[in-house]
Amino acid sequence: MDSADIAGKLPHGVRSAGYQTKGARIAGALFTGVWLLYLVGAVAYLFSHHYSPLYIAGGLAIIVAFSVIYVVLVPNWPTGGRYTLPGLAALALLAVTGCVFYGATGLVALWIFMSSACGLLVPDRRRAVQAVVGCIAGYVIFSVTTHVHGTDFLSNLLPVLFIGFAMIGLRRQFQLTAELAGAREEVAQLAASEERLRLARDMHDLTGQSLSVITLKSELAARLLGRLPESAERDRVRDEIDQVASVSRQTLRDIREAISGYRRPTLAVEIITARAALASAGIAARDDANLTLLSGTFDPDTEAALAWCLREAVTNVVRHSGAKNCYISLAHQSGSMSLTVRDDGKGHSPSDGCGTEPPGTGPLAHPPGGRVTGTGLHGMGERLSAVGGSLELRPDTRPGFSLVATAPATPQTPATPVSDVTSSRA
Ligand SMILES: Nc1ncnc2c1ncn2[C@@H]1O[C@H](COP(=O)(O)OP(=O)(O)OP(=O)(O)O)[C@@H](O)[C@H]1O
Ligand SMILES: [Mg+2]
Repeated sequence: MDSADIAGKLPHGVRSAGYQTKGARIAGALFTGVWLLYLVGAVAYLFSHHYSPLYIAGGLAIIVAFSVIYVVLVPNWPTGGRYTLPGLAALALLAVTGCVFYGATGLVALWIFMSSACGLLVPDRRRAVQAVVGCIAGYVIFSVTTHVHGTDFLSNLLPVLFIGFAMIGLRRQFQLTAELAGAREEVAQLAASEERLRLARDMHDLTGQSLSVITLKSELAARLLGRLPESAERDRVRDEIDQVASVSRQTLRDIREAISGYRRPTLAVEIITARAALASAGIAARDDANLTLLSGTFDPDTEAALAWCLREAVTNVVRHSGAKNCYISLAHQSGSMSLTVRDDGKGHSPSDGCGTEPPGTGPLAHPPGGRVTGTGLHGMGERLSAVGGSLELRPDTRPGFSLVATAPATPQTPATPVSDVTSSRA
Protein backbone atom coordinates (compact mmCIF):
# COMPACT_ATOMS: atom_id res chain seq x y z
CA MET A 1 0.00 0.00 0.00
CA ASP A 2 1.55 3.31 -0.92
CA SER A 3 1.40 6.41 1.18
CA ALA A 4 -1.39 7.88 -0.91
CA ASP A 5 -3.54 4.91 -0.06
CA ILE A 6 -2.57 5.12 3.55
CA ALA A 7 -3.86 8.69 3.64
CA GLY A 8 -7.24 7.27 2.84
CA LYS A 9 -7.19 3.87 4.51
CA LEU A 10 -5.29 2.49 7.42
CA PRO A 11 -2.68 -0.21 6.96
CA HIS A 12 -3.96 -3.73 7.22
CA GLY A 13 -3.69 -5.15 10.71
CA VAL A 14 -4.17 -1.82 12.41
CA ARG A 15 -7.23 -0.73 10.51
CA SER A 16 -9.70 -1.85 13.17
CA ALA A 17 -7.61 -0.60 16.05
CA GLY A 18 -10.42 1.78 17.16
CA TYR A 19 -13.42 0.01 18.67
CA GLN A 20 -12.82 -3.71 18.22
CA THR A 21 -14.57 -5.40 21.10
CA LYS A 22 -18.21 -5.13 22.08
CA GLY A 23 -17.24 -3.31 25.28
CA ALA A 24 -15.11 -0.84 23.38
CA ARG A 25 -17.95 -0.25 20.91
CA ILE A 26 -20.37 0.47 23.76
CA ALA A 27 -17.82 2.80 25.35
CA GLY A 28 -17.34 4.50 21.97
CA ALA A 29 -21.08 4.98 21.51
CA LEU A 30 -21.39 6.40 25.05
CA PHE A 31 -18.47 8.73 24.55
CA THR A 32 -19.96 9.92 21.27
CA GLY A 33 -23.47 10.22 22.71
CA VAL A 34 -22.35 12.38 25.63
CA TRP A 35 -21.62 15.27 23.26
CA LEU A 36 -25.18 15.16 21.98
CA LEU A 37 -26.28 16.54 25.37
CA TYR A 38 -25.53 19.89 23.79
CA LEU A 39 -28.74 19.43 21.81
CA VAL A 40 -30.68 19.78 25.08
CA GLY A 41 -30.80 23.53 24.35
CA ALA A 42 -32.64 22.88 21.09
CA VAL A 43 -35.12 20.52 22.80
CA ALA A 44 -35.72 23.04 25.58
CA TYR A 45 -36.34 25.73 23.02
CA LEU A 46 -39.03 23.62 21.34
CA PHE A 47 -40.89 23.26 24.66
CA SER A 48 -40.38 26.78 25.91
CA HIS A 49 -42.55 28.29 23.15
CA HIS A 50 -46.20 27.76 22.49
CA TYR A 51 -45.79 25.59 19.46
CA SER A 52 -48.36 23.06 18.40
CA PRO A 53 -47.71 19.46 19.61
CA LEU A 54 -47.25 18.38 15.99
CA TYR A 55 -44.60 21.02 15.40
CA ILE A 56 -42.77 20.02 18.60
CA ALA A 57 -43.01 16.33 17.68
CA GLY A 58 -41.53 17.07 14.26
CA GLY A 59 -38.59 18.94 15.81
CA LEU A 60 -38.02 16.15 18.34
CA ALA A 61 -38.16 13.51 15.59
CA ILE A 62 -35.43 15.35 13.68
CA ILE A 63 -33.23 15.65 16.78
CA VAL A 64 -33.75 11.98 17.75
CA ALA A 65 -33.12 10.67 14.22
CA PHE A 66 -30.02 12.83 13.92
CA SER A 67 -28.70 11.64 17.30
CA VAL A 68 -29.31 7.96 16.53
CA ILE A 69 -27.54 8.11 13.16
CA TYR A 70 -24.72 10.11 14.71
CA VAL A 71 -24.18 7.63 17.55
CA VAL A 72 -24.25 4.65 15.18
CA LEU A 73 -22.00 6.24 12.58
CA VAL A 74 -19.30 8.15 14.42
CA PRO A 75 -17.87 5.35 16.62
CA ASN A 76 -16.87 3.59 13.37
CA TRP A 77 -14.12 6.10 12.74
CA PRO A 78 -11.37 6.04 11.54
CA THR A 79 -12.25 3.34 9.05
CA GLY A 80 -15.91 4.14 8.51
CA GLY A 81 -17.81 1.55 6.57
CA ARG A 82 -20.06 1.23 3.59
CA TYR A 83 -22.80 3.20 5.38
CA THR A 84 -20.57 6.19 6.07
CA LEU A 85 -21.46 8.28 3.03
CA PRO A 86 -25.22 7.49 3.05
CA GLY A 87 -25.14 8.16 6.81
CA LEU A 88 -23.46 11.53 6.37
CA ALA A 89 -25.94 12.39 3.62
CA ALA A 90 -28.83 11.51 5.97
CA LEU A 91 -27.33 13.69 8.72
CA ALA A 92 -26.97 16.58 6.27
CA LEU A 93 -30.55 16.14 5.10
CA LEU A 94 -31.82 16.18 8.70
CA ALA A 95 -29.72 19.26 9.50
CA VAL A 96 -31.06 21.09 6.43
CA THR A 97 -34.67 20.06 7.17
CA GLY A 98 -34.25 21.11 10.80
CA CYS A 99 -32.83 24.47 9.79
CA VAL A 100 -35.51 25.12 7.17
CA PHE A 101 -38.39 24.45 9.56
CA TYR A 102 -36.87 25.20 12.97
CA GLY A 103 -33.81 27.36 12.18
CA ALA A 104 -34.19 29.97 14.84
CA THR A 105 -34.98 27.38 17.52
CA GLY A 106 -31.37 26.28 17.74
CA LEU A 107 -31.33 23.39 15.27
CA VAL A 108 -28.54 25.22 13.47
CA ALA A 109 -26.39 23.67 16.22
CA LEU A 110 -26.72 20.38 14.31
CA TRP A 111 -24.00 21.74 12.00
CA ILE A 112 -21.49 21.42 14.84
CA PHE A 113 -22.10 17.67 14.91
CA MET A 114 -22.18 17.47 11.12
CA SER A 115 -18.80 19.17 10.96
CA SER A 116 -17.32 16.81 13.55
CA ALA A 117 -18.73 13.71 11.77
CA CYS A 118 -17.32 14.87 8.42
CA GLY A 119 -13.87 15.51 9.93
CA LEU A 120 -13.79 12.06 11.50
CA LEU A 121 -15.40 9.95 8.83
CA VAL A 122 -14.52 11.29 5.39
CA PRO A 123 -11.45 9.24 4.42
CA ASP A 124 -9.83 11.56 1.90
CA ARG A 125 -8.34 14.61 3.60
CA ARG A 126 -9.14 17.02 0.79
CA ARG A 127 -12.73 15.84 0.66
CA ALA A 128 -12.95 16.07 4.46
CA VAL A 129 -11.82 19.71 4.36
CA GLN A 130 -14.39 20.43 1.62
CA ALA A 131 -17.10 18.73 3.69
CA VAL A 132 -16.21 20.75 6.80
CA VAL A 133 -16.21 23.95 4.77
CA GLY A 134 -19.64 22.90 3.44
CA CYS A 135 -20.87 22.52 7.04
CA ILE A 136 -19.57 25.97 7.92
CA ALA A 137 -21.32 27.40 4.85
CA GLY A 138 -24.54 25.56 5.76
CA TYR A 139 -24.38 26.91 9.28
CA VAL A 140 -23.76 30.51 8.14
CA ILE A 141 -26.45 30.41 5.42
CA PHE A 142 -29.14 28.99 7.71
CA SER A 143 -28.18 31.26 10.61
CA VAL A 144 -28.50 34.31 8.39
CA THR A 145 -31.69 33.23 6.60
CA THR A 146 -33.44 32.19 9.81
CA HIS A 147 -32.25 35.31 11.66
CA VAL A 148 -30.30 33.61 14.44
CA HIS A 149 -29.36 36.09 17.10
CA GLY A 150 -25.82 37.56 16.75
CA THR A 151 -24.45 36.16 20.04
CA ASP A 152 -25.92 32.71 19.42
CA PHE A 153 -24.52 32.77 15.91
CA LEU A 154 -21.00 33.58 17.12
CA SER A 155 -21.07 31.13 20.03
CA ASN A 156 -21.88 28.26 17.66
CA LEU A 157 -19.66 29.45 14.80
CA LEU A 158 -16.43 28.70 16.66
CA PRO A 159 -17.27 25.03 17.38
CA VAL A 160 -18.49 24.49 13.79
CA LEU A 161 -15.20 25.95 12.55
CA PHE A 162 -12.79 24.28 14.90
CA ILE A 163 -14.32 20.90 15.67
CA GLY A 164 -14.35 19.80 12.02
CA PHE A 165 -10.71 20.69 11.46
CA ALA A 166 -9.69 19.32 14.87
CA MET A 167 -11.30 15.99 13.92
CA ILE A 168 -9.43 15.92 10.60
CA GLY A 169 -6.24 16.42 12.62
CA LEU A 170 -7.21 13.68 15.06
CA ARG A 171 -7.88 11.27 12.23
CA ARG A 172 -4.53 12.10 10.63
CA GLN A 173 -2.81 11.58 13.97
CA PHE A 174 -4.39 8.16 14.27
CA GLN A 175 -3.31 7.25 10.74
CA LEU A 176 0.26 8.31 11.44
CA THR A 177 0.32 6.25 14.62
CA ALA A 178 -0.99 3.25 12.69
CA GLU A 179 1.61 3.77 9.96
CA LEU A 180 4.30 3.98 12.61
CA ALA A 181 3.13 0.70 14.15
CA GLY A 182 3.22 -0.91 10.68
CA ALA A 183 6.71 0.44 10.03
CA ARG A 184 7.92 -0.86 13.41
CA GLU A 185 6.57 -4.30 12.59
CA GLU A 186 8.32 -4.18 9.21
CA VAL A 187 11.61 -3.18 10.82
CA ALA A 188 11.32 -6.01 13.37
CA GLN A 189 10.70 -8.55 10.61
CA LEU A 190 13.62 -7.27 8.60
CA ALA A 191 15.89 -7.42 11.62
CA ALA A 192 14.83 -11.05 12.18
CA SER A 193 15.47 -11.90 8.52
CA GLU A 194 18.84 -10.17 8.62
CA GLU A 195 19.74 -12.14 11.73
CA ARG A 196 18.76 -15.40 10.04
CA LEU A 197 20.94 -14.61 7.07
CA ARG A 198 23.86 -13.73 9.34
CA LEU A 199 23.41 -17.00 11.21
CA ALA A 200 23.26 -18.94 7.96
CA ARG A 201 26.45 -17.26 6.72
CA ASP A 202 28.26 -17.90 10.00
CA MET A 203 27.17 -21.54 10.15
CA HIS A 204 28.27 -22.04 6.60
CA ASP A 205 31.62 -20.30 7.00
CA LEU A 206 32.48 -21.73 10.42
CA THR A 207 31.50 -25.34 10.01
CA GLY A 208 31.10 -26.04 6.32
CA GLN A 209 34.76 -25.87 5.42
CA SER A 210 36.08 -27.79 8.45
CA LEU A 211 33.53 -30.56 7.98
CA SER A 212 34.45 -30.89 4.32
CA VAL A 213 38.11 -31.21 5.31
CA ILE A 214 37.29 -33.83 7.98
CA THR A 215 35.33 -35.83 5.39
CA LEU A 216 38.13 -35.64 2.83
CA LYS A 217 40.87 -36.47 5.32
CA SER A 218 39.02 -39.44 6.76
CA GLU A 219 38.31 -40.78 3.27
CA LEU A 220 42.02 -40.38 2.47
CA ALA A 221 43.02 -42.09 5.72
CA ALA A 222 40.67 -44.99 4.94
CA ARG A 223 42.25 -45.35 1.49
CA LEU A 224 45.79 -45.24 2.93
CA LEU A 225 44.87 -47.86 5.50
CA GLY A 226 43.75 -50.10 2.65
CA ARG A 227 47.37 -50.20 1.45
CA LEU A 228 48.68 -51.58 4.78
CA PRO A 229 49.03 -55.37 5.27
CA GLU A 230 45.77 -57.00 6.17
CA SER A 231 45.03 -57.48 9.85
CA ALA A 232 42.05 -57.44 12.21
CA GLU A 233 43.42 -54.26 13.80
CA ARG A 234 43.62 -52.49 10.43
CA ASP A 235 40.01 -53.41 9.54
CA ARG A 236 38.80 -52.12 12.88
CA VAL A 237 40.59 -48.79 12.48
CA ARG A 238 39.25 -48.54 8.92
CA ASP A 239 35.67 -49.12 10.14
CA GLU A 240 36.10 -46.36 12.72
CA ILE A 241 37.48 -43.96 10.12
CA ASP A 242 34.63 -44.81 7.71
CA GLN A 243 32.18 -43.94 10.48
CA VAL A 244 33.92 -40.61 11.11
CA ALA A 245 33.63 -39.86 7.37
CA SER A 246 29.97 -40.80 7.25
CA VAL A 247 29.08 -38.79 10.38
CA SER A 248 30.83 -35.71 9.05
CA ARG A 249 29.15 -36.11 5.63
CA GLN A 250 25.77 -36.37 7.33
CA THR A 251 26.48 -33.35 9.54
CA LEU A 252 27.51 -31.34 6.48
CA ARG A 253 24.26 -32.32 4.75
CA ASP A 254 22.22 -31.36 7.82
CA ILE A 255 23.92 -28.01 8.07
CA ARG A 256 23.37 -27.28 4.38
CA GLU A 257 19.71 -28.15 4.76
CA ALA A 258 19.35 -25.89 7.78
CA ILE A 259 21.11 -23.07 5.95
CA SER A 260 18.93 -23.39 2.88
CA GLY A 261 15.94 -23.21 5.23
CA TYR A 262 17.24 -19.95 6.67
CA ARG A 263 17.94 -18.62 3.20
CA ARG A 264 14.45 -19.35 1.99
CA PRO A 265 13.25 -16.08 0.51
CA THR A 266 10.47 -14.28 2.31
CA LEU A 267 7.97 -11.77 0.97
CA ALA A 268 8.99 -9.21 3.59
CA VAL A 269 12.59 -9.23 2.40
CA GLU A 270 11.76 -9.66 -1.29
CA ILE A 271 9.47 -6.63 -1.36
CA ILE A 272 12.32 -4.43 -0.09
CA THR A 273 14.58 -5.68 -2.89
CA ALA A 274 11.72 -5.21 -5.36
CA ARG A 275 11.19 -1.60 -4.28
CA ALA A 276 14.88 -0.87 -4.76
CA ALA A 277 14.94 -2.56 -8.19
CA LEU A 278 11.85 -0.68 -9.35
CA ALA A 279 13.13 2.62 -7.98
CA SER A 280 16.43 2.22 -9.82
CA ALA A 281 14.46 1.70 -13.05
CA GLY A 282 12.37 4.82 -12.38
CA ILE A 283 9.19 2.79 -11.72
CA ALA A 284 7.03 3.72 -8.72
CA ALA A 285 6.34 0.75 -6.47
CA ARG A 286 2.75 0.75 -5.18
CA ASP A 287 2.83 -2.10 -2.76
CA ASP A 288 0.48 -3.48 -0.20
CA ALA A 289 1.35 -3.54 3.53
CA ASN A 290 0.12 -7.16 3.57
CA LEU A 291 3.35 -8.25 1.90
CA THR A 292 5.15 -7.45 5.11
CA LEU A 293 2.38 -8.09 7.59
CA LEU A 294 1.42 -11.55 6.27
CA SER A 295 5.00 -12.63 5.69
CA GLY A 296 5.90 -15.42 8.14
CA THR A 297 2.26 -16.15 8.98
CA PHE A 298 1.78 -19.08 6.55
CA ASP A 299 3.76 -22.11 5.33
CA PRO A 300 7.36 -21.18 4.54
CA ASP A 301 7.38 -23.29 1.35
CA THR A 302 4.36 -21.44 -0.07
CA GLU A 303 5.86 -18.13 0.97
CA ALA A 304 9.17 -19.04 -0.64
CA ALA A 305 7.40 -19.93 -3.92
CA LEU A 306 5.50 -16.62 -3.88
CA ALA A 307 8.68 -14.72 -3.00
CA TRP A 308 10.48 -16.26 -6.00
CA CYS A 309 7.52 -15.26 -8.18
CA LEU A 310 7.65 -11.73 -6.83
CA ARG A 311 11.35 -11.52 -7.64
CA GLU A 312 10.91 -12.79 -11.20
CA ALA A 313 7.77 -10.73 -11.87
CA VAL A 314 9.48 -7.54 -10.74
CA THR A 315 12.55 -8.37 -12.83
CA ASN A 316 10.22 -8.74 -15.81
CA VAL A 317 8.53 -5.42 -15.06
CA VAL A 318 11.95 -3.76 -14.96
CA ARG A 319 13.16 -5.50 -18.15
CA HIS A 320 10.11 -5.65 -20.37
CA SER A 321 7.33 -3.32 -19.29
CA GLY A 322 8.46 0.29 -19.74
CA ALA A 323 5.92 1.04 -16.99
CA LYS A 324 5.65 4.04 -14.71
CA ASN A 325 3.93 2.21 -11.84
CA CYS A 326 4.04 -1.31 -10.54
CA TYR A 327 1.23 -2.44 -8.22
CA ILE A 328 2.02 -5.36 -5.93
CA SER A 329 -0.51 -6.84 -3.55
CA LEU A 330 -1.04 -9.93 -1.44
CA ALA A 331 -4.48 -11.21 -0.51
CA HIS A 332 -5.54 -14.07 1.73
CA GLN A 333 -8.81 -15.68 0.78
CA SER A 334 -10.39 -19.06 1.43
CA GLY A 335 -7.23 -20.92 2.39
CA SER A 336 -4.99 -19.53 -0.31
CA MET A 337 -2.62 -16.65 -0.78
CA SER A 338 -2.70 -14.60 -3.99
CA LEU A 339 0.15 -12.40 -5.08
CA THR A 340 -0.69 -9.90 -7.83
CA VAL A 341 1.96 -7.97 -9.72
CA ARG A 342 0.54 -5.50 -12.22
CA ASP A 343 2.18 -2.75 -14.20
CA ASP A 344 0.94 0.06 -16.41
CA GLY A 345 3.53 -0.47 -19.14
CA LYS A 346 3.20 -1.56 -22.74
CA GLY A 347 1.92 -5.02 -21.83
CA HIS A 348 2.65 -8.06 -23.92
CA SER A 349 3.70 -7.70 -27.50
CA PRO A 350 3.60 -10.97 -29.47
CA SER A 351 7.09 -10.34 -30.85
CA ASP A 352 8.44 -10.60 -27.29
CA GLY A 353 7.85 -14.29 -27.35
CA CYS A 354 5.27 -14.51 -24.60
CA GLY A 355 2.64 -16.53 -26.40
CA THR A 356 -0.88 -15.64 -25.45
CA GLU A 357 -4.45 -15.66 -26.49
CA PRO A 358 -5.73 -12.77 -28.57
CA PRO A 359 -6.65 -9.72 -26.50
CA GLY A 360 -9.99 -9.94 -24.81
CA THR A 361 -10.13 -13.72 -24.53
CA GLY A 362 -9.48 -13.62 -20.82
CA PRO A 363 -6.75 -14.78 -18.50
CA LEU A 364 -4.09 -17.17 -19.63
CA ALA A 365 -3.63 -19.99 -17.18
CA HIS A 366 -0.24 -21.58 -16.80
CA PRO A 367 0.90 -23.87 -18.33
CA PRO A 368 -1.48 -23.86 -21.30
CA GLY A 369 0.31 -25.99 -23.78
CA GLY A 370 3.56 -24.10 -23.74
CA ARG A 371 2.17 -20.73 -24.76
CA VAL A 372 4.38 -18.94 -22.29
CA THR A 373 7.86 -19.26 -23.64
CA GLY A 374 10.22 -17.46 -21.24
CA THR A 375 12.20 -19.40 -18.68
CA GLY A 376 11.23 -16.97 -15.93
CA LEU A 377 7.48 -17.49 -16.25
CA HIS A 378 7.92 -21.25 -16.68
CA GLY A 379 10.04 -21.35 -13.55
CA MET A 380 7.34 -19.45 -11.66
CA GLY A 381 4.70 -21.93 -12.81
CA GLU A 382 6.87 -24.86 -11.75
CA ARG A 383 7.62 -23.45 -8.33
CA LEU A 384 3.93 -22.78 -7.77
CA SER A 385 2.76 -26.21 -8.91
CA ALA A 386 5.36 -27.75 -6.55
CA VAL A 387 3.37 -26.28 -3.64
CA GLY A 388 -0.04 -26.95 -5.24
CA GLY A 389 -0.51 -23.44 -6.62
CA SER A 390 -1.01 -21.90 -10.05
CA LEU A 391 0.00 -18.92 -12.12
CA GLU A 392 -2.40 -16.79 -14.08
CA LEU A 393 -1.18 -14.27 -16.64
CA ARG A 394 -3.10 -11.36 -18.04
CA PRO A 395 -0.67 -10.07 -20.63
CA ASP A 396 -3.25 -7.77 -22.19
CA THR A 397 -4.26 -5.94 -19.03
CA ARG A 398 -5.09 -2.46 -20.24
CA PRO A 399 -2.70 -0.87 -19.75
CA GLY A 400 0.19 -3.19 -18.99
CA PHE A 401 0.77 -6.73 -17.88
CA SER A 402 -0.46 -8.47 -14.79
CA LEU A 403 0.22 -11.73 -13.13
CA VAL A 404 -1.52 -13.52 -10.28
CA ALA A 405 0.33 -16.25 -8.40
CA THR A 406 -1.93 -18.26 -6.12
CA ALA A 407 -0.94 -20.99 -3.68
CA PRO A 408 -2.72 -22.79 -0.85
CA ALA A 409 -1.64 -21.39 2.49
CA THR A 410 -2.18 -22.75 5.96
CA PRO A 411 -1.79 -20.20 8.71
CA GLN A 412 1.19 -20.63 10.97
CA THR A 413 2.16 -19.16 14.27
CA PRO A 414 4.66 -16.32 13.82
CA ALA A 415 8.21 -17.38 12.97
CA THR A 416 10.18 -18.85 15.86
CA PRO A 417 12.45 -16.18 17.25
CA VAL A 418 16.03 -16.63 16.18
CA SER A 419 17.18 -17.12 19.78
CA ASP A 420 14.79 -20.09 20.09
CA VAL A 421 16.04 -21.56 16.84
CA THR A 422 19.61 -21.43 17.98
CA SER A 423 18.93 -22.83 21.42
CA SER A 424 16.82 -25.70 20.10
CA ARG A 425 19.54 -26.61 17.63
CA ALA A 426 22.35 -26.33 20.16
N1 LIG B 1 5.71 -7.04 -17.17
C1 LIG B 1 5.82 -7.39 -18.46
N2 LIG B 1 5.53 -6.49 -19.43
C2 LIG B 1 5.62 -6.82 -20.75
N3 LIG B 1 6.00 -8.05 -21.18
C3 LIG B 1 6.31 -8.98 -20.27
C4 LIG B 1 6.23 -8.71 -18.86
N4 LIG B 1 6.57 -9.84 -18.20
C5 LIG B 1 6.85 -10.75 -19.13
N5 LIG B 1 6.69 -10.24 -20.36
C6 LIG B 1 6.86 -10.95 -21.65
O1 LIG B 1 6.86 -12.34 -21.37
C7 LIG B 1 8.04 -12.92 -21.90
C8 LIG B 1 8.40 -14.10 -21.06
O2 LIG B 1 8.88 -13.69 -19.76
P1 LIG B 1 9.90 -14.62 -18.97
O3 LIG B 1 10.19 -14.03 -17.65
O4 LIG B 1 9.34 -15.98 -18.97
O5 LIG B 1 11.19 -14.62 -19.88
P2 LIG B 1 12.28 -13.48 -20.07
O6 LIG B 1 12.11 -12.44 -19.01
O7 LIG B 1 12.22 -13.01 -21.47
O8 LIG B 1 13.63 -14.25 -19.85
P3 LIG B 1 14.14 -14.92 -18.48
O9 LIG B 1 14.19 -16.35 -18.78
O10 LIG B 1 15.49 -14.31 -18.25
O11 LIG B 1 13.19 -14.57 -17.39
C9 LIG B 1 9.05 -11.80 -21.90
O12 LIG B 1 10.06 -12.01 -22.85
C10 LIG B 1 8.20 -10.60 -22.27
O13 LIG B 1 7.98 -10.54 -23.65
MG1 LIG C 1 11.94 -12.98 -16.98
